[in-house]
Amino acid sequence: MEKIDFTGAPATMLATLYGKAVDAQSPDSVLHDTMALDAINKIDFDFTKVGIKRGDAATVAIRSLHFDMWTREFLRDHPEAIVLHLGCGMDTRVYRVDPGPSVRWFDVDYPDVIELRRKLFPERDGYELIASSVTPPGWLEQVSGDLPVLVVTEGLTMYLRQGEGRELLRRIVEHFPSGQLVFDAFSTRGIKMQKVNKPVQVAKATLYWGIDGADELVSIHPRLRCTDAVSAFDLQGYERLRAPYRALVWAARKLPVMRRMAVMYRLEF
Ligand SMILES: C[S@@+](CC[C@H](N)C(=O)[O-])C[C@H]1O[C@@H](n2cnc3c(N)ncnc32)[C@H](O)[C@@H]1O
Repeated sequence: MEKIDFTGAPATMLATLYGKAVDAQSPDSVLHDTMALDAINKIDFDFTKVGIKRGDAATVAIRSLHFDMWTREFLRDHPEAIVLHLGCGMDTRVYRVDPGPSVRWFDVDYPDVIELRRKLFPERDGYELIASSVTPPGWLEQVSGDLPVLVVTEGLTMYLRQGEGRELLRRIVEHFPSGQLVFDAFSTRGIKMQKVNKPVQVAKATLYWGIDGADELVSIHPRLRCTDAVSAFDLQGYERLRAPYRALVWAARKLPVMRRMAVMYRLEF
């Protein structure tokens, strides 16, 4: 069993890992992430305390499935490409998507998180781990900028300060000839509601960067365009959740301010 001692932003990936593990146990699993289930069985930690109820675990899987779909679409159109999976946590996307031999895939997260990944998940060809915060510029120099890039980052932007996030996206656009950036974001109102976000509170993490629409994002660099902005509440699959969560989704679909609180963006350049 692996002992862990995470706090703050890195600890939030325990909640998403647990959500995917619980979903994998369900007969109508969304994501079928059996590697997440194996991982939690090898970690010496009480996952029932991460702030996600078993009945709501599929929310995490529904979101991840959407990012898997956008990742597969990009790789279908760009079989020779670089993938930067930022703030990867213990997510097993590289194994789920199983990219072809001409893809170089980098998972990036804080050193402690990457160390745990190295212990629990296997190596594979074309796959590298970068143990670094995404905010200092140095780590990107390890990645050659000669191919189209897909940056996929799920549950990360809100942990960055606005200036850090904007600078990160700007730096990536400058580094590559073309690509897509796919990520989720909370609106500023969503950030203000962090006190009711159980996994964030349990982890003792703080959310900072609220994004109120695609205009804010495309203003980061003249080459950026937004092709999709999808409310997290508009995704499919919520019918399998407990009644209180289904009611929340129903209300969010009716109320524009709630619908905009959690959005999944796809930008290209
Ligand atoms: C909510 S978890 C999401 C993990 C994973 N993407 C998933 O969906 O399961 C947030 C992740 O972002 C990572 N993170 C937060 N700030 C970061 C930073 N500045 N640099 C690298 N990783 C960061 C945390 O360590 C954590 O793994």
